[in-house]
Amino acid sequence: MHETVEEIKKKQDIVEYIGSFVTLKKAGRNYKGLCPFHQEKSPSFIVSPDRQIWHCFGSCGEGGDVIRFLMKFENLTFPEAVKELANKLNIPISSSFSSEDSVWKKKERLFLLNRTACDFYHYVLLHSKFGKKAREYLAKRNIKSEIINTFEIGYAPSSWDSLRRFLFKKKFRDEDLMDAGLVIRTEKGSLFDRFRGRLVFPLKDARGNIVGFSGRLLSEDIKQAKYINTPETLIYHKRETLFGLHLAKESIRKEKNVIVVEGEFDMISPYQSGISNIVAIKGSALTKDQLLLIKRYTNKISLALDSDEAGAEAMKRGIKEAEELDFELGVIIFLEGKDPDDAIQKDPVSFKKAVMLPVPIYDFLISHFLKKYPEDTAFSKKNIGEEIVPFMVYINNPIVQSYYIKKLAIILGVDESSVESILRKAKYNKKAFISTKEKEKEPKGNRVEMIERHCLSLLFQTEDVCKNIMLLKTILEASDFSYPAYSNLFQELIKGCITANSLFNVNTFAQLLSPQLRSVYDEIYLSTSLDMGSQDQSILKLSYEIKQFSLKRQLQSFLTSDKIENQEKMHQLNVLLKEVEKKVAKV
Ligand code: CTP
Ligand code: MN
Repeated sequence: MHETVEEIKKKQDIVEYIGSFVTLKKAGRNYKGLCPFHQEKSPSFIVSPDRQIWHCFGSCGEGGDVIRFLMKFENLTFPEAVKELANKLNIPISSSFSSEDSVWKKKERLFLLNRTACDFYHYVLLHSKFGKKAREYLAKRNIKSEIINTFEIGYAPSSWDSLRRFLFKKKFRDEDLMDAGLVIRTEKGSLFDRFRGRLVFPLKDARGNIVGFSGRLLSEDIKQAKYINTPETLIYHKRETLFGLHLAKESIRKEKNVIVVEGEFDMISPYQSGISNIVAIKGSALTKDQLLLIKRYTNKISLALDSDEAGAEAMKRGIKEAEELDFELGVIIFLEGKDPDDAIQKDPVSFKKAVMLPVPIYDFLISHFLKKYPEDTAFSKKNIGEEIVPFMVYINNPIVQSYYIKKLAIILGVDESSVESILRKAKYNKKAFISTKEKEKEPKGNRVEMIERHCLSLLFQTEDVCKNIMLLKTILEASDFSYPAYSNLFQELIKGCITANSLFNVNTFAQLLSPQLRSVYDEIYLSTSLDMGSQDQSILKLSYEIKQFSLKRQLQSFLTSDKIENQEKMHQLNVLLKEVEKKVAKV
């Protein structure tokens, strides 16, 4: 296990790896970019090629090595991330490894179970007499056999236990079948297949693992839910799932846009016609988890939701989160058909045109509410205003916001200040939760801490670290740092330079430190790239400032005392302080 981890870190360059997910720019010795784990406008995410680590100096404050990055990015457990990287790099995994994490083992077992069930359903659909009706149903809905294979669509026969019997023969345990949601337990304790007499779609994660299934009835006549789905399990979380993402992700990246629809067929039909940057949610609002997943591939979303009131509702609910994550939201308006599947079957040419020209979400909302309140009365205008303004509050960009204020004012036939005043009211209502969020963003620590950290971080940026440490040593003592961690680090640096005989190496040095001190070191080491703008503050000046603060602190501690020897000491300190103050002003 340990060897595998070390081998991964040796073989996989962290800048290259993270750089394939996040745009990184060189900043001094390190690289910097926008943190993929929280929303931000200026980069506070730093990656160090020398140390092979990363750290976010923004509100999330996360950091670690390449494995930790993958764990966060793909929401994986430690062994899962190790396994994925080892596979990618062709590094063998030691056999003791898999037994180390039972959650991971369990997940693996459920993936395998679902894979086997998927193969069963798919086989029944394609090759058995029980699948005949389902094959006809798919043909009627114009789904080509190539697409049936791509999506591994299947059929669950109308039987109480055919899947369970099949899986039993394959040596799977009932307990796992329950945990995967493939069977249901009756009150008396017997088990039966969840999916019966239904077309079955495997639901996959971005990497193609089967996390669950959804099943559709072959006929609308049967008095049951049209669709049923795997319940929430260890591996299936509805709010994190985007149907089709594993097939669409490359194309989403390339097109810099994703089309979001509601429902399996609404994703499959356009995909079949060559629209491949498309994913489906399950008939409700786009969740924050889904948005974060999309954020890995693109900043632009085109919603193609059902053309009914429910679709509009879903859109409205997605807006707030999408604005907070800085997405550009558009709406695809198709005139023909009740949903994208219907629309593309009826008129593929105009659907494809509509896809090319998404309407910005706020324009869509304005026309939506204009249709809802068509009367030319004051009352109807008031309604339109009150319905739209709560969404406009979330517009992040002031230029975009003022554009819509103007537009709405014209449509409603009022002046802009009236719209602005409703907007102010709505903003006031949402203030409460914003202010707590902003507070989190405030930089931690005071000025002394900042100067001490900055001084050390600049030090790591210099060509000859040891030479500069020796220079600092003539001005500062370790005890001049007010923060114990910095003080210790400074001491270790001096020691490190003496033992390393002036050949200071950032990694060898890290090995010498205790784990606690190492994380302080890592953070400071990476923070150099953040403060690039203020490099004009020389190390020398900063170290005099540190000395100045230190002397002041010492003086302060004597103030309450009136012993003679302390008076003498205070006098000396005062002289020293004067000197240092002169130097601070000079450099
Ligand atoms: N859905 C669900 N459970 C239901 C109804 C719907 O999970 N009881 C999900 C399905 O994924 C469905 C989507 O919500 O595809 C949208 O529902 P709806 O618009 O009613 O169905 P369509 O997508 O039009 O399905 P179809 O074309 O097969 O009739
Ligand atoms: Mn449909």
